Amino acid sequence: MKKIYRANILYTKQKDCFEIIEDGYVAVGDDGRVCRVAADRDSLGWPDAEVVDYTGKLLIPAMNDVHVHAAQYHNQGIAMDMELLPWLEHYTFPEEAKFADTDYAERIYSRFVSHLRRVGTMRAAVFATVHTEGTRRLMRLFSEAGMGALVGKVAMDRNCPDSLIETVDEAVSGMEQLATEYSDPQSLVRPIVTPRFIPSCTPAMLKACGELASRYGLPVQSHLSENLAEVASVHQLEPDALGYGDAYRRYGLFGQTPTVMAHCVWSDAAERRLMKEGDVMVAHCPTSNFNVASGMAPIRTFLDEGIRVGLGSDISGGHDLSIFRTMVYAIQVSKMHYQRNHDMPFLLLSEAFWMATKGGGSFFGRVGSFEEGYDFDALVIDDHDLYPEDYTLEQRLERFIYTGDDRHIVHRFCRGKEV
Ligand code: GUN
Ligand code: FE
Repeated sequence: MKKIYRANILYTKQKDCFEIIEDGYVAVGDDGRVCRVAADRDSLGWPDAEVVDYTGKLLIPAMNDVHVHAAQYHNQGIAMDMELLPWLEHYTFPEEAKFADTDYAERIYSRFVSHLRRVGTMRAAVFATVHTEGTRRLMRLFSEAGMGALVGKVAMDRNCPDSLIETVDEAVSGMEQLATEYSDPQSLVRPIVTPRFIPSCTPAMLKACGELASRYGLPVQSHLSENLAEVASVHQLEPDALGYGDAYRRYGLFGQTPTVMAHCVWSDAAERRLMKEGDVMVAHCPTSNFNVASGMAPIRTFLDEGIRVGLGSDISGGHDLSIFRTMVYAIQVSKMHYQRNHDMPFLLLSEAFWMATKGGGSFFGRVGSFEEGYDFDALVIDDHDLYPEDYTLEQRLERFIYTGDDRHIVHRFCRGKEV
C-alpha cells in the first residue's frame, strides 16, 4: 500500500549538514521504498494515498548497527576489568560455548532482537557463535520481527576452548546450509561470512572463508587492529603479510566482497590505503574501545581519507545497544583526539548521525536516508517532554540523541513495514 507520512523530517544526505523539512511529507511506495520527500501535500501527487499523520513529531531514518555480538547479550554491562585477549578467554568464550544449547540460544537471542527493536536499530551486522542451529534460530527471529540483519555463524578453530572449535569442513558445511536457506539477495535477513579474527582462525579456515564469500557472493565481517597485543600476535601468526589488513586480503577477506571491519583503532596509513582500495567499511565501536581499553579510533582521519564508516555497539565489549548513545560517545572520543591534536576537528552532530544512518546503512543496500529509492527505514520520535518551545528541529533532535531514550521512539519501520 502506498502511504504518505506527515511529520518534521530530518535526515543526512551528506555528512556535513541535516536536510530538514518542517511539517513535511514522505511518500512511500508499495515496495517499501521512498518515492519522494516534499514540503507540501499537493506536490506529491497520489491524491488517494492514505496520509499517516505524525504532525509535531520527528521522523528520522532508523539506526544501523554495523557490529554487534548477539551471543554476548547475557554479558552486557559486566566483565569490564580486562583487555581484549584475556577478556575473550575468561568471559566471552565461556559464554559463547553455552550456545551449543539451542534453547539457551533461542532465549538469549529473542531478548536481544527485541531489545534491538526497542532502541530503534532496524539493521544490524551480527555475530552469532560457531553453532549452526543457534545461528539459524537467530536468523529466524530477525525474519519474524521484520528487521534487517546480516547474521554470521562465527568461524574459529584455534586459540579457544575445544568446545568452540569446528573443523574447516564442519564450518564450511554449516555456512553453506545457511547460505542456501537464505539465498535471496533481496531478503532482509542474509548470512555474512564471519571469521572471528586472525588469532582465532588457522590459515586453512581463513582460506575457506574467503572462498565461500566469493562462491556465494556473500559479504564479510571481522575484527581489525583493535588492541595492541592482538596486532602483535597477528604479526607473529602471519609474518609474510604486510600487516593485519593485508593478511585478510591475502585470504580474499578484505574488499573482494563487501567487507566491514570492527574497531580499526591501530590501522596505520598502509592499512588505511588497503581499506580505501577495497572499499572496506570501518565499524566504529567507541564504547567497546573504552571498556576493553583498546584505544581511540581516528575517525576524522578515516573520513578525511574517504574510507566508509558506520557505528557499532559491539555488545558486550560495548555496554550500550543504543546507536543514539553510540553517536554521543563517538563525538566525545573525537573531542579527546582534538584535545591532543587540533588538526583533527571533532565530529559534528550531523557527521555522527550520518555514520549511524546513511554511512552504516550503505552496508545493507540503499538504507539510511530518505532520498528517492531508499528503503523506508524510519523512526517516529515523540519528544514533547524534552524540549522548550524555542528549540529548532535540529536542537530537538540533538536533545533527544543526548538525553532521550527508547520511550521516545513511538513507531519503527523497516523497508516500509511497521516493526
Ligand atoms: N576480537 C575477536 N573477538 C572479539 C569479540 O568478541 N569482541 C571484541 N570486541 N573483539 C574481538
Ligand atoms: Fe566485536
